[in-house]
Amino acid sequence: MKQAEKSFQKDTTLKSRSGIVSWESPANIALVKYWGKKPGQLPWNPSLSLTLSKSVTLMNVEYNYTGFHEDIHAGFEFSGDNKNPAFGERVIKYVEAIKNYLPMMAYYDFKIRSFNNFPHSSGISSSASAFSALALCFTEIEQASYKDNVVLDEAFYKKASFLARLGSGSACRSMYGGLVLWGHTEWIEGSSDEYALKLCEGISPVIDSIHDTILLIDRSVKPILSSAGHALMDTNPYSVVRYRQAEKHLKDLITAIKKGDLDSFFNLIEIEAFELHAMLLTSFPGYILLKPGTLRIIEMVRNERLKGLPIGFTIDAGANIHLLYPADSSEQVFSFIRNELPEFHDSDIITDHVGKGPVKVTL
Ligand code: DP6
Repeated sequence: MKQAEKSFQKDTTLKSRSGIVSWESPANIALVKYWGKKPGQLPWNPSLSLTLSKSVTLMNVEYNYTGFHEDIHAGFEFSGDNKNPAFGERVIKYVEAIKNYLPMMAYYDFKIRSFNNFPHSSGISSSASAFSALALCFTEIEQASYKDNVVLDEAFYKKASFLARLGSGSACRSMYGGLVLWGHTEWIEGSSDEYALKLCEGISPVIDSIHDTILLIDRSVKPILSSAGHALMDTNPYSVVRYRQAEKHLKDLITAIKKGDLDSFFNLIEIEAFELHAMLLTSFPGYILLKPGTLRIIEMVRNERLKGLPIGFTIDAGANIHLLYPADSSEQVFSFIRNELPEFHDSDIITDHVGKGPVKVTL
């Protein structure tokens, strides 16, 4: 008999339950980028993100107590028009991997259903919203299999963030609303490589309510997956300098965020986007993910800023551009897009803003 079974048979507190849990979790956009990781999905540098509001994954996990079985029993289904078989396989692998942290999983069968309200390859990372929602579902199921009442306290979210990280590094940051840090840095108490930390103190309201409008420049599937991109950092000759820069940018960005200093904020998030793409360009092989359209918009955004519009951008590992600006500049930004970028139709634009984090859905 396996060790896990022995210990569970002794564990009389495990309840033989069935049910369904559901969480809605948002995507996030990195301001200081996570790019490069150590084994165990641990980051080489701390990263900082804003959790979005409207771009979410809804995840349902049905669980049935079936008694001990060595293999994990789980099925995955995508709903909506967002079918992506590769993602389904990734989810199943993930579920198998997290059983080391949730041994009760060996006693249940799971049916997982996922729905994104934003398109696949839209410039918003669906892995962050999906794995954070999935991790929340499993954290809740673990609690429900031992206790009558699930408590959504600090320890609950910490465990969920830890589990989400194992699915996708950036997913651990989607666990909280607002500004979220992932990665240990000496000067921020409570920061960890293993889970994310919500930053609360002294954040200027102008940053707390920032808007993110995403211009979809290229919808094709990226030529390199994030995981392969991170691996390129292991041999990139500039990686050590990059990790140092990320630390410095984080410090400067937090200062700017506290002061509500938008000029420094924009300059820092833009240099972060440039450094990410500089790493892609200088890896071996090198990748050019920016498109001529991205460069044109970068120039236009910077010109608008010089003219007085408080707007900046960031870009993830792709060509699509996130325009960030304070809530009260929305109208001006929209007239800029309408007048200067008429080739972008409504379907090429996603509008979002800073959100409050995941929500437990009652079925
Ligand atoms: C450029 O979190 O998608 O968006 O841990 O391999 O799943 P894995 O990578 P992922 O990488 C995100 C990279 C990024 C920057 C960021 O979100 O910090």
